[in-house]
Amino acid sequence: MLDYFWLWSEMIVRWVHVIAGVAWIGSSFYFIALDLSLKPGKELPKEANGQAWQVHGGGFYNMVKYLVAPKKMPEELTWFKWEAYSTWISGMALMSLVYYGSASLYMIDLEVLDITQLQAVFLSLGGIVIGWIIYDGLCRSPLGKNDLILALAGLVFLVLLSFIYTQVFSHRGAFMQMGVTIGTMMVANVAMVIIPGQKKVVQALKAGDDPNPIYGVRGKQRSLHNNYLTLPVIFVMIGGHYPIIFATEYSWLILGLILIIGALIRHFFNTKHKGLPAPYWTWLVASLLAVCSVLLSYAGAPNNNVYEVSNLNMTKEEIHKTAVELVIERCSSCHAREPLWEGLAFAPKGIHLETEEEVLKMANEIYWQSAASWAMPPGNIIWLEDEERVLLSEWHASLKKN
Ligand code: HEC
Repeated sequence: MLDYFWLWSEMIVRWVHVIAGVAWIGSSFYFIALDLSLKPGKELPKEANGQAWQVHGGGFYNMVKYLVAPKKMPEELTWFKWEAYSTWISGMALMSLVYYGSASLYMIDLEVLDITQLQAVFLSLGGIVIGWIIYDGLCRSPLGKNDLILALAGLVFLVLLSFIYTQVFSHRGAFMQMGVTIGTMMVANVAMVIIPGQKKVVQALKAGDDPNPIYGVRGKQRSLHNNYLTLPVIFVMIGGHYPIIFATEYSWLILGLILIIGALIRHFFNTKHKGLPAPYWTWLVASLLAVCSVLLSYAGAPNNNVYEVSNLNMTKEEIHKTAVELVIERCSSCHAREPLWEGLAFAPKGIHLETEEEVLKMANEIYWQSAASWAMPPGNIIWLEDEERVLLSEWHASLKKN
């Protein structure tokens, strides 16, 4: 019964996280597009930066942007911050429930680094904080004066960080850690830069002073970063369900390419929303980089790394018998009706690998999780040699030849 509550709470937190994320990303996309579409108008007050006319839901909207601020404080003001904060809070709750709660399965690979569960959690939290400090430092440094140079420096930093994470955590842990690190940067941009800046402007208005324009400029820069980071972060969150993306040797490089692809796609829409000719070349480059990502995940898979044993001197029957025995031996401590693994109340994802029939039924999934990637066993906690992964690959191929 208790496990039902556990699984339900995970589901509900996930639900909240997705909804909060949709609300945040939706408003972020909306405001960036609105900002880009603003046009000057003769009839606007002199503090106004531009206006846009929009039609939606049966009515017309006339949006006017005041930069730095209107002459006097409006009576009512809607702030956009809880979309971001609730996305982060629910995200960290989910991270704790799934990853920190079972760090030995989700974060640690003893072959990579021999750490305890508690150390893994602290390394993860430390990495998130340090990631923010360095990114924030880059933005405030002289590099921050040029958007393109800052973007390049940010890209190099993120790829480096994601490589460093692969030297600390399991494949799965490192990949998700990167998503959480970037997600936190985005929320911290709102909590530490954008909102405090806007509060200072409001204070100045209330005091009858002229607000300092630097807050608007800084806020705009961070908001643009968030806009460019949105697509890659969503990729990581979904990518955590695809073993050939997160559990291969070059996952950290794939992440670098995804950062560029995400930025290219945003660039296309941002340019279009500005009313400029749409840069269709971005789709071509993004597609080429996507092909490179596929090639990287193929090249970094275990079954493509051990060539010498791929010509197994075994008959098809021998391969089949060995593969089935191997799976039952290594996987059934968790994937059983009554798992022996401490802390597991039932077989993860309801997958049972206890009989030949069950193994055969799951052949495809076994291939993706254990031959085409290092996803299973989690963190290689029950050791599976690369040669054995190749054997599973050969077995999978031999089944298809029937
Ligand atoms: C130490 C426990 C453990 C062992 C051993 C283990 N698994 Fe898993 N397995 C898990 C957990 C936990 C999950 C759930 C992962 C998740 O949350 O996506 C899982 C999920 C899976 C899935 C479903 C993946 C999905 O996203 O739908 C497959 C398939 C799988 N394991 C295959 C294997 C195979 C094959 C082996 C042996 C080579 C193996 N597992 C060994 C714990 C284990």
